[in-house]
Amino acid sequence: MIGSWMPFLTCPASGAATMGALAPWAAAAALAGIGSVAVLLVAARTARAQRDAEGGLARYVAILAARDGAPDFARRTLAHRESFFASLDSSPLAARAPIDRATFLRNLARARPERGLDERALFLLATAKSNVSERYGVELAERLGRMHAGREPVLVHVTLQEHYHTRMLADVVRAFGLPVPDVRPPLAARAVVHAILALPERLGLPLTGASEMAGCILFRMLRDRGREIFADEPAVAARIALLYDEILIDEIGHVGLIAWQLGRVGRAAMRFLYRAVARFMLRAMPEMRTLVGDAAIARATRGAFPLDDLLRDLGGRAFALARP
Ligand SMILES: [Fe+2]
Ligand SMILES: [Fe+2]
Repeated sequence: MIGSWMPFLTCPASGAATMGALAPWAAAAALAGIGSVAVLLVAARTARAQRDAEGGLARYVAILAARDGAPDFARRTLAHRESFFASLDSSPLAARAPIDRATFLRNLARARPERGLDERALFLLATAKSNVSERYGVELAERLGRMHAGREPVLVHVTLQEHYHTRMLADVVRAFGLPVPDVRPPLAARAVVHAILALPERLGLPLTGASEMAGCILFRMLRDRGREIFADEPAVAARIALLYDEILIDEIGHVGLIAWQLGRVGRAAMRFLYRAVARFMLRAMPEMRTLVGDAAIARATRGAFPLDDLLRDLGGRAFALARP
């Protein structure tokens, strides 16, 4: 910083003319004083920004610790999530009208569902395919050493939360007595995962953030449609809402964490990519197109990311460290 003042001090056209009335030592002292004040102001602002940023991160880590409980990375567990699942397991849910297992499994392996499937089957297929896609992304990222657990407490929580998302989505499907076998995820999901992992990590952040934002839109749509479709079975509708809400709370946190790591340009790229990724992912899921319709997908992906709506919708249980 100090070095950048040197040309001004020694330049006859600017320094001598401007400071002509002052003795050279006084001009130098004045400039050094101005420079020092400017340096201190900038340093203070930088330190304040750094403190604010660290304070924000500390707050997010505290929220994660309270929400998730103690992490155990070796066992891929979070203490509170384990008790959450234990309480769900203690009150297993069985939907009244079961979905035909053979039809479900046959369609899970298909890119397009067979004609004539009802809304219930389409909803479970969309949920199962989201599960398979999450699992694919998590496992591939981990195999390529891109999960970084252990380096930072915040990343340990985020990584383990992603593991639980696959379990939560599988739990929705399990309420209907159905499994989620290890099938290949839809092409669009694989394309997004590979695009993210092909980029150098820092460069890939806006795209990762965009896919987290797109995930929020997808999971909210699935939650809302699930609630409508199973309205005549309140316990099932409530279980669907509970599991999707848990995922949404986590994903909003992930969106905020990525936005926090990016500068203004990175966040603009994240917002721009969000619309493209969300549209691409949702339109590539034929089950979603039938369940919610192309017009709803277009509406949901046209405007800005509805962060405030989502935060309100989740009753203050979600937290975003920064706005995308
Ligand atoms: Fe996730
Ligand atoms: Fe996520």
